[in-house]
Parts: sequence; C-alpha cells; structure tokens
Amino acid sequence: MSADLVIVANRLPVDRVELDDGSAGWRGSPGGLVTAVEPVLRANDGTWVGWPGGTESDLDPFDHEGLHLVPMSMNAQEIQEFYEGFSNATIWPIYHDLVAKPEFHREWWDAYVSVNQRFAEKAAEIAAKGATVWVHDYQLQLVPQVLRELRPDLRIGFYLHIPFPPAELFQQLPWRRQILEGLLGADLVGFQMPGAAANFVRLVRQRVGHKTHRDLIYLPDGRTVRAAAFPISIDAAGFEELAQSEPVGKRATAIRDALGNPTKIFLGIDRLDYTKGIYARLRAFSELINDGHLDVEEAVFVQVAVPSRERVEQYKILRDDIDRLVGRINGDVGRIGRPAISYLHTSYPREEMAALYRAADIMVVTPYRDGMNLVAKEYVACRFHNDGALVLSEFAGAAAELRQAWLVNPYDINGMKSALLEACQADEKEVTRRMKAMRKTISQHDVQAWAESFMTELAGDRFMHGKKVRPVKRS
Ligand code: F6P
Repeated sequence: MSADLVIVANRLPVDRVELDDGSAGWRGSPGGLVTAVEPVLRANDGTWVGWPGGTESDLDPFDHEGLHLVPMSMNAQEIQEFYEGFSNATIWPIYHDLVAKPEFHREWWDAYVSVNQRFAEKAAEIAAKGATVWVHDYQLQLVPQVLRELRPDLRIGFYLHIPFPPAELFQQLPWRRQILEGLLGADLVGFQMPGAAANFVRLVRQRVGHKTHRDLIYLPDGRTVRAAAFPISIDAAGFEELAQSEPVGKRATAIRDALGNPTKIFLGIDRLDYTKGIYARLRAFSELINDGHLDVEEAVFVQVAVPSRERVEQYKILRDDIDRLVGRINGDVGRIGRPAISYLHTSYPREEMAALYRAADIMVVTPYRDGMNLVAKEYVACRFHNDGALVLSEFAGAAAELRQAWLVNPYDINGMKSALLEACQADEKEVTRRMKAMRKTISQHDVQAWAESFMTELAGDRFMHGKKVRPVKRS
C-alpha cells in the first residue's frame, strides 16, 4: 500500500461496535474532527490512519463506504495511559484554560511517546515518495518530528482542533519542550485562531530558543516552519440539503409534536464534556422558569449529551452532576407531560441532528473554551428559512465569525439568562437579519475552503531560510 495523501488522527472516522445481532460493525465516530476531515479524505482518495476504539489488535486495512482506512490497535494500558490519561486528563484541561485540574504522571507521558512513535512509523510505512501527510490534533503532537526523522522526503502538515493555550498555562507541562519540538517536525502548523498560532510561536521562541519572525520559525536544519490560523468549518451546503430534505422536515415536525408543540424549543447538542458549559446553561434556563419569565407549557430545553470519555474521572463526575441537575429541575418546575428539560444521553446520526436543528427555535452553545464549535455552524447551515436564534459563548472559536449571534460569557449566569430571553423574545425581523448574515459567512467559509487553504499553503514552495540560527535555550 502506498498513498499520496495520508491523514493521521487518533481516531478513525468509524468506531468498531457490536451490532444488535452480536456481529461486529462500524459506526461514525463522535466529534468535530471527523466531521471536518472526512470530506477531505473522500475528495483526495487518501488513506486514514487511526484507532478504531476498543482493544482489538488484528484488524487489517480496509475500505469503508469508499474510505481507505488503516486501523491502529491500542492495548488496555495504552488506552488508559495515552488516551484517557495524557491526552484527556493532562493536555485537554491545560489546553482548555484549566477548566478542570490537569494531572501529571510520568507513565502517561511514556505511553504518549510510544503511541506517537507507532502512529508515525505506520504513516512512514504507507506514504508514497514525496507524499503529503496531514497529522491531526493534540493526541499526536510528537508525530511530525518522528515522521520527519523517518521520512525527510514528506510534506508534513499538522492541525490542532482544540485551543492552544497561552505560555502561562502551557509552561506547567513538564514535557513542554518535547511537545513544541514534536510539532516543529511539520512544515505547516495550523490552529483554529490567530491567537493560538501566536501563543505557539512565542513559546517556541521562549522555550526552544528558535529565531522567529511573525508566523515563521527558522530552524537550525534550514527549514522554515509556518504557524498560522485556519478556522475550521463544516460542509454547509451538504447540511442545508439534508435539512431541506422531506424526511428531515417530517422528522422535525414529529419532534415538535412529541414535545407537545411548545412555542419555543431551546436546543443544546454537545459531547458530554466539562468544557461545554452544559450545567451553567441548564441552570440559566431553569432560573428563567423559576423567575416566571418562561413557562414550561410554552418552552422546553432539549439537551443532547453525546457520551464521551466515560472512564475519565472528571467526565464521570460531570455525568452525575448533570443527571442530578436535570432531575432536580424537572422535579421542581416540570408538570405532567411537560418536563422543563428533555435530556438525551446518546449520539445521533446526521439526519436526526439536522431534524433537531430544524425543530429548534433557539440553539444554545455555551462552552467555557472551545477551539471552534461546529455544532453552532451546523445549526446556522440548517436554518434555510433564515429563522432561528443562536446563543453563543464568546469563548468558542466560532464567535469570531458568527458575530451576529447573541454572544454570552458562560461564567455570567445572569448575562446568559438575559441573552436567552432576548433571543427568545426577539422579533422576526431581528432574528432574520442576524441569521442571514451568519449564513452568508458559513456559506463562504465552508470545510472545503478550509481544507483547500491549508493544503494549498502546505503544498506551496518551501525555501530553506539560509539564516545562521541555532537553539539557545535548554529548558
Ligand atoms: O476535536 C477534539 C476531539 O478531541 C477530537 O480529537 C476527537 O476526535 C473528538 O474530539 C472526540 O473525542 P474522542 O476521540 O476523545 O471521543
């Protein structure tokens, strides 16, 4: 096997699952990364290297619905130390503003190093001469450097799907220098936001000692690495088409009927993650009912929480907290057949998501910190009648583009209550004006534009900088 484009990500776009009849099958993986990168793979006939979930170890490369997939196995200890541990209990909280406390364990780091090494070796094995390898996300930050050592002929890109923190937080990491050097194996390091790229360049200058100029980093081996923002997006036209389809329209009506045809449906759809601000938004909504501003006969909040990282301690705590909160709110303010919150702990296929987006009057996206948040963009893409209001956290990357949303600070419950109420009571003209503007933005900056701009930049001429530079710091 030899591929001209190799995508390397922790997860494959499909997860290995047990089907109802007991046989093994495949189900789409959760998260924004897969949503965004899958169309790129399809368009370029590339090969995707990643973990299919679980501990099965003897899976051969296979094709699934036209995608070429190379499964990487992980044993139980690696899942615990590399995936649940270093990736999701060390890096994840540090990169998300310390919303939860990170844990530091040397064994977790060792597992991170060895899994990264293995992913890089696999990519090196299957990439054709001079191929492009595009490495994704925080689980694989060491892959670019290992890959470059194994295969200097490759063009290597890296894209981070989550925020990249300021130096003040990043430098808590005992392995900060190794991670920066890992990323510098790439020719192009892409981020969601310009601030994240600037944080990276500054850290490279301070912690590794390389010479930098604006978004360029000059390495001692003569290479120039560029670090820049490429805000990710969705397949806007595809989502709109799906939302317009008859089955989705019918399903949206059925959802409204099942909810008792309330005047206003509020909607949240998130992975069940503590960065998403689910607890705060449900509290804000319930207080509006308690205060008499909303009535359960007329308004309902549908919260879909997609199960995620269920063995990581902070996620277990969050699940219990949300279960308790929803029970308490419904017990306190709900009436027979009229719960205030309709809570669903499950994941849905795209069709059901599109139907929910169509059914909802107010979409509520309130993360404490989020690289981008594609759910907000999906909602906008599905509102082809230019109706529907979006309440969006200032701390989601999407807020930089979706300026016409009702922007909120999720730490400010009263501010969030006011925004929810305003969005709910806004007149049609105002809602349409805002939605029209956001739809224009989304249609111009879709996932294809994102992928094209990254790939074009990666494929561009790369000159050796010819400068005399060498690392000066060893910290
Ligand atoms: O976008 C962030 C991200 O962590 C992706 O890397 C990942 O595929 C997705 O969210 C879902 O998370 P997980 O793979 O841990 O279920």
